[in-house]
Amino acid sequence: MAGGKPNVLFLLPPGWDALSKALFGHAGFNSFLHGKDHYAPPQIDYFVGFRPPHGFLKTLPRVKAIFSLGAGVDGFLRDPEFPRHLPVVRFVDETLQREMAQYVTMHCLIIHRHQRSFDAAQKESTWRQRMLGRPSRELRIGILGMGDIGAVTAERLLMFDFQVSGWSRSRKTVPGVTSFAGPEELPKFLAQCDIMVCMLPLTPETEGILNAKLFAGLPQGAWVMNVGRGGHCNEQDLVAALDSGHLSGAVLDVFQTEPLPPDNALWTHPKVTVTPHIAGITDPRNASAFVVDCIARAESGAPFKNVVDLNRGY
Ligand code: NDP
Ligand code: OXD
Repeated sequence: MAGGKPNVLFLLPPGWDALSKALFGHAGFNSFLHGKDHYAPPQIDYFVGFRPPHGFLKTLPRVKAIFSLGAGVDGFLRDPEFPRHLPVVRFVDETLQREMAQYVTMHCLIIHRHQRSFDAAQKESTWRQRMLGRPSRELRIGILGMGDIGAVTAERLLMFDFQVSGWSRSRKTVPGVTSFAGPEELPKFLAQCDIMVCMLPLTPETEGILNAKLFAGLPQGAWVMNVGRGGHCNEQDLVAALDSGHLSGAVLDVFQTEPLPPDNALWTHPKVTVTPHIAGITDPRNASAFVVDCIARAESGAPFKNVVDLNRGY
């Protein structure tokens, strides 16, 4: 390993290696790809990855900071041996926020415009007209988790005239968005959601929050969308609420087990739309540029941006 320059270890999703390596080469760091390059764990200064295997990070004794290539950091913090003295810097990126907002807006429009029933009618070559039922200004969309992604999503939904509210730990002031805060205001928030979108981080407090009790608090006929994490949702409770007719449907991008096993009943449930954790995909160029910038700043003594509060878990 060359001396002087910081040594950066990547443990990356497939397909990112060449791009990230090229960027880091330009930035003047020594970069190593786990599984490909030889490196000495005691000489690694920075780690970059998404969901490293549990116990992996404790094998890097000199590491100074950890960079998450995702906005969510549960993949790190759920490691029981995670070195909690280290700063964890999460990826906060406008492109990712906009893609998440697009996904949610697209599915809200599909629901609002009854597109699934037109897709079904086309399969039967049937001309089946259907009224909207209500204008978008009467459709109430509630966002669980009004953070960086939730706020951009709310903005986009407002552009389509939906009624938008948000629930978070602390109260927000976002023009046009009704803010609910804390566990005591959750029932009031739920009671006014025609579509409830989960954009929370997965923490000990939010794990399993999408459960029978929460579904019962939603209006009859509501929809549930989960783009947070699979660990938020009790999938059995969700299926029960769909089968009972209380919920009209669910759009799920994240699951308890990923990839979703082929024999999982969610794949074929008539009221469920499944996507393979693609609501917002980290752009490798943006992520690499972000990490390069952070390391350069750190090496010149500047503080990190977007450091996770390990006590809150996000
Ligand atoms: P932020 O940290 O910016 O926002 C988190 C929001 O959740 C904040 O508004 C926070 O409240 C709220 N929150 C956290 N805990 C609680 C709680 N116990 N009760 C009420 N509100 C709570 O995160 P991002 O917006 O950047 O990302 C959110 C999540 O989206 C990620 O953690 C990840 O799991 C998921 N994600 C999924 C992707 C996908 O492809 N499906 C892609 C990217 C992200 P407050 O503001 O008061 O602190
Ligand atoms: C993320 C994700 O957290 O892609 O960014 O899930």
